[in-house]
Amino acid sequence: MKTYPNSVTSKLPGVGTSIFATMSQLANEFNAINLSQGFPDFEISKELIGLVNKYMKQGFNQYAPMPGLIGLREAIAEKTFKLYSAQYNPDKEITITAGATQALYTAISAFVKEGDEVIVFEPAYDSYIPAIKMNGGTALCFELHPPDYKTDWSSVKKMINHNTRMIIINSPHNPTGTIVTAQDLVQLEKLTKDTDIIILSDEVYEHIIFDNYEHQSVLRFPGLAERSLVVSSFGKTFHATGWKMGYCIAPVNLMTEFRKVHQFIVFACNTPIQHAIAEFIKNEANYSGIGKFYQQKRDFFVNALKNSKFKVLTSSGTYFQLLDYNKITKESETDFAIRLTREFKVASIPVSVFYHKNIDHKVLRFCFAKSEETLEKAAEILCRI
Ligand SMILES: Cc1ncc(COP(=O)(O)O)c(C=O)c1O
Repeated sequence: MKTYPNSVTSKLPGVGTSIFATMSQLANEFNAINLSQGFPDFEISKELIGLVNKYMKQGFNQYAPMPGLIGLREAIAEKTFKLYSAQYNPDKEITITAGATQALYTAISAFVKEGDEVIVFEPAYDSYIPAIKMNGGTALCFELHPPDYKTDWSSVKKMINHNTRMIIINSPHNPTGTIVTAQDLVQLEKLTKDTDIIILSDEVYEHIIFDNYEHQSVLRFPGLAERSLVVSSFGKTFHATGWKMGYCIAPVNLMTEFRKVHQFIVFACNTPIQHAIAEFIKNEANYSGIGKFYQQKRDFFVNALKNSKFKVLTSSGTYFQLLDYNKITKESETDFAIRLTREFKVASIPVSVFYHKNIDHKVLRFCFAKSEETLEKAAEILCRI
């Protein structure tokens, strides 16, 4: 193809191929165990597949309503009330999205304008900052550090000014596996009281939490819920990341603006899958057990690593485990992750890629949403390093 003859001005000049694609490609090339990208390597529920099939055969194959099927929104409202004692109107305050990433982008587009500042905690999921930039905003990053990646709220307070439009939080947290406590959210509530700051709370791993902790959703805190958009992902909850299905929940005045943008980004989402999830999610057992399910995998992986030189950091949620390799080498995270893939055949993700300044603490992220056989093989190799 002849190239486009005029000049191209990139809206994201610093952005190249993501490290996730690079590491997965390397893993394939070197036939390595791929613990880099976050996706399960096991089957999803047969019942859920059967339900999607059933609704396709029944002819539910045309556009769903713009905000999503009302039956699914009602089921989400019920679950939200049961779990967090928060009452949301399914008609006006819940929207089904094409995965959490779309919900996050839509929320940022709906509220962030030229000149606005958004506070982001780094290491951060990779879609937040590009979405802020694409909408003319500026990301102000608050750095969290190992081993516990704790937030110092008095320092966050100093970042707030009249341009602060939004604060993005994420718990359970990718990539660190840390969680916010009720005390953290009380601090955030105090910080934002009497401001017009909106909270965008990424809670895609709400059901993947360990050690008897309860997920602290912003929805439990009325002073936060009134200014929050909460994003969740069925991809994470039902081990079906390829389906790209999620939702956003927010008070009516925020959701009205969210939907104005949502309708022009995707309009509506996959119809038969919405019918299937609406039926499947009514049975609480289909999501309430996944914390225990992944905790077993975490414990299996961590236990298999007990004789390794890697230091295991605490993972209280998500399906990620951070390993600190300060005792092994001084190589940069990226160099070491590449060498681990090429020479030792285990792929991971350098945590430095989740900081815009590529801060290097010598910590790698491993995904344990894999079969025990895969985890055992990977751990065996890591113990030899
Ligand atoms: C913190 C976080 N937010 C959002 C997403 C995106 O979820 P989805 O696949 O539903 O778009 C992910 C996926 O890895 C994630 O880890």
